Amino acid sequence: MPTLDITGKTAVYGILAHPTDHVRAPQVFNAAYEAAGIDAVLVPLDVTPENLATVVEALKVTRNFHGLTVTVPHKVAMADLCDELAPGGERVGSVNAIRFTEDGRMLGDNFDGKGYVTGMRKAGFDFAGKKVLQLGAGGAGMSIAFSVAEAGAAEIVLANRTVAKAEALGQRVQAAFPGTSVSGVAADADPAGYDVVINTTSLGLHDGDALPVDVDRLSAGTAVSEIIMTPVHTELLKRAEAKGHPIYFGKPMLDEQIKLIGAFMGCPLPD
Ligand SMILES: NC(=O)c1ccc[n+]([C@@H]2O[C@H](COP(=O)([O-])OP(=O)(O)OC[C@H]3O[C@@H](n4cnc5c(N)ncnc54)[C@H](OP(=O)(O)O)[C@@H]3O)[C@@H](O)[C@H]2O)c1
Repeated sequence: MPTLDITGKTAVYGILAHPTDHVRAPQVFNAAYEAAGIDAVLVPLDVTPENLATVVEALKVTRNFHGLTVTVPHKVAMADLCDELAPGGERVGSVNAIRFTEDGRMLGDNFDGKGYVTGMRKAGFDFAGKKVLQLGAGGAGMSIAFSVAEAGAAEIVLANRTVAKAEALGQRVQAAFPGTSVSGVAADADPAGYDVVINTTSLGLHDGDALPVDVDRLSAGTAVSEIIMTPVHTELLKRAEAKGHPIYFGKPMLDEQIKLIGAFMGCPLPD
């Protein structure tokens, strides 16, 4: 159990979810606050969608409550409830972090993509000028596509089971980043000829999942990047590594997001 010394001066943060059984943010943030000697605590808030607006109105006027991380199913609804969105939240249309200002306003942002790109940069991969095949166009994939374009990718091809989602996302990313060539295609498009393939689908989370891409069809030297964290070595990464492709794991995306979200909420964590 945490040994946090909570007093009347402790700054309070929350993770908003429904349900909250699976959330890990309290363990992660509170351990970091404790290690850094920061007088703050982050608590789970299990709120149903129909009560979301009521709870948020109450939090806005709670003077020692300073910020939220947001997860399923509230990311889109919270974007609508924010008074202001940073560009990362605005373009994606969903938020996973909120800062409460002293005058009672809520600022929202989405750090999935920024966390991913920062993790890749720290692992030695720079997207500038690269040809990118992104598998998946779901919630995390949406944020990642914008951030990869922002990082200067030359070309992004979004391949998704529901091709209409890939096409719609492609058009939005293209409009936001005209310097990058962006398109949406079907999930079985040819994966040859790319510098990097990113798996943002949930394929690989469970034993027996199909591979999100045929590794035998990748060009030699193509990097393979995963955002799934458990298992650490997904089947995709195992097969790519066995064929000599550089591989990148999913956890750095979360590690970097935690730092970015801590700083955004006004309670920066040490590097
Ligand atoms: N490392 C991190 O920090 C981090 C952060 C967030 C999420 N994640 C991981 O990212 C993954 C996606 O999360 P999300 O929130 O973006 O989920 P999501 O919004 O539900 O999107 C899931 C994506 O996977 C595709 N997909 C799902 N099942 C499929 C199947 N059987 N065949 C082909 N495509 C399939 C979906 O395609 P359709 O559009 O056709 O449905 C969609 O593109 C999860 O594994 C999650 O654990 C990691």
